[in-house]
Amino acid sequence: MASLRERVAHHLHLYHELDAPEIPDADFDRLVHELRDLEDAHPDVAAALDADGSGVSPAQQVGGAASGAFSPVRHDVPMMSLDNAFDVDELRGWGDRLVRRLGEDRAIDRWNIELKFDGLALSIRYEDGQLVQAATRGDGTTGEDVTHTVRTIADIPHSLPAGAPPVVEVRGEAYMRRSTFDALNDAQVAAGLKPYVNPRNAAAGSIRQKDPAVAATRNLSFWPYQLGRVDNGPALERHSDTFRFLTELGFTVNDHHRVVDGLDDVVAFIHEYEGRRHDLDYEFDGVVVKVDELDVQRELGSTSRAPRWAIAYKLPPEERATRLIDIPISIGTNGSATPYALLEPVFVGGVTVTNATLHNEDQVRAKDVRPGDMVIVRRAGDVIPEVVGPVLSERAKDSVPWAFPADCPVCATPLIRPEGEARHRCPNFHCPAQIRGRIEHFAQRGAMDIEFFGERTIDLLVTEGVIADVGDVFCFDPEALRSFEGFGDTSIENLAGALEVSRTRPLGKVIFGLAIPHVGSSNAELLAKAFGSLDALAGASAEQIAGIDGLGSVIADSVVEWFAVESNAAILAKLSEGGVRPEAPQVSTLEQTLVGKSIVVSGGLANYGRAEAKAAIVDRGGKAPGSVSKSTFALVVGNDPGASKVTKAEELGLPILDEAGFDALLSTGELP
Ligand code: IVH
Repeated sequence: MASLRERVAHHLHLYHELDAPEIPDADFDRLVHELRDLEDAHPDVAAALDADGSGVSPAQQVGGAASGAFSPVRHDVPMMSLDNAFDVDELRGWGDRLVRRLGEDRAIDRWNIELKFDGLALSIRYEDGQLVQAATRGDGTTGEDVTHTVRTIADIPHSLPAGAPPVVEVRGEAYMRRSTFDALNDAQVAAGLKPYVNPRNAAAGSIRQKDPAVAATRNLSFWPYQLGRVDNGPALERHSDTFRFLTELGFTVNDHHRVVDGLDDVVAFIHEYEGRRHDLDYEFDGVVVKVDELDVQRELGSTSRAPRWAIAYKLPPEERATRLIDIPISIGTNGSATPYALLEPVFVGGVTVTNATLHNEDQVRAKDVRPGDMVIVRRAGDVIPEVVGPVLSERAKDSVPWAFPADCPVCATPLIRPEGEARHRCPNFHCPAQIRGRIEHFAQRGAMDIEFFGERTIDLLVTEGVIADVGDVFCFDPEALRSFEGFGDTSIENLAGALEVSRTRPLGKVIFGLAIPHVGSSNAELLAKAFGSLDALAGASAEQIAGIDGLGSVIADSVVEWFAVESNAAILAKLSEGGVRPEAPQVSTLEQTLVGKSIVVSGGLANYGRAEAKAAIVDRGGKAPGSVSKSTFALVVGNDPGASKVTKAEELGLPILDEAGFDALLSTGELP
């Protein structure tokens, strides 16, 4: 217990006093819970440790002690912490406990719900209408005087309207908007400084600046949510009245709050905001549920740490610490050698993550993550999981920096890193990993869409030497599988049937399946439409290809180069021998309103399926890629669009259209 106390105290200090936490909040919360459970189970040991001179257990403390950098401020009304609920059962358990405490015949039928902002708690004191002092929470009893920096926050009035009570303390959260944070970090990096880890730390670090001029450049914001001491204030009956009062005082209250009459509605609110987590320009890591009636709040009271009348429902963490087991290398279809993190499974961003890309040698070196390290893993929204960095205080003493392996882990060919490039490559075109990758790409749903021909079957056939390139896919006899475990009449018949169906896939899909560098599915469609057959495409000149609207010389050269390679010509011959007869593209009779325009569709539309929306664009001469870039003409959003696409489009200042706008765009080619 003593060493767990030390770890909690260490992280408590880093978080509250240095604004530089080493581990994610979720892991810190867990550590505190572990210690509390242990102390609850062994109160005698805890008491002995308390008496031992180490003082109150860190599990019982509200926040950090004052650092000494700023003058201490004693809070007239303590600034408490909140208890947490991590799932709906815990939330309902809390609700039941409150009702039991009030007496079985009582009910709570007004619950106030609001967001739990991820920032730094402040108490701002006004006397005779003037801002006189602003303090951090500190340990709940004594905080630090940060009046000088808080005065630079535009959301915080320096004076209150006439008639304001003689003493008012407004409590709330100072925070940094995501957009401000991104700009700050861009500037940090440009100046050769370390970027901030997250907006919370950036906000806390800015408030605790000595120089208010520095804080002023940080463009901080503030959401009020509670009152501290109020002398001769209005008689408020409900927490929701507090919000009205705060507005009258000249504060802007956050819009996302609601009063509901039961916990079912609270749960619905939580689910709604789980889905909106990335739609807002500021971070929130939970939902705070408060009993709305202030006299019921008073009746319920508080423990030494937290009020009984409120709870913080924590959303699934987007950052967690876990063990980095190893850094293996994966070999891609084109031979690219990518290091990735093999992780002890960790629940983060709502899913269990077991691996995350590490991109390339330079990234691993910059992050200095090493097998055996505890590392922080981040998965926010629909973004792919990322390793943020190591937890240095937990690194083994004998750990050494990771080095990129010299040889391909699949075929043992020495890896190369061409000069000026970030990526290593396996130069062996016949590396089984590359062969498998090319065949998997060819067979995938967006290409030849061969059912019953997944990774396992492909792996087996390549390893056993039955197929060696995509040309063999339609030539080998599925009977060859019979001698392997798990393959019988049904699976062989299924595969034979699937291959037959795939022989007549549309030409654009076949071209895409060939994995010609720079030819994604949209470009493949354009090539199919322009040339009508594989033979015609094989005979096309770079000028002819570059002349197609939407394609350029890079793509043209790449296509011509691909068809000039002898082994590729052999593949085409085998495909033809194997009975592949691509369906020629239908020439669209629609007006070509979207030539040269690239339109991304995200989310569900009422009158178009996913494929239909794509076809509607392509049939009018446009491109319909899967991701937003600066060359995107417009983003069309339906129900539940991908948050990262919307954010990217907003960042790039692209037009964002709804379904009606999409219809107009299709028919006129112009923005509505
Ligand atoms: S009410 C006595 N409401 O969460 C209850 N706190 O973990 C006072 N926080 O110290 C807190 N958003 O820094 C409340 N809407 C909200 C909040 C909120 C964020 C923070 C606050 C508090 C911490 C507790």
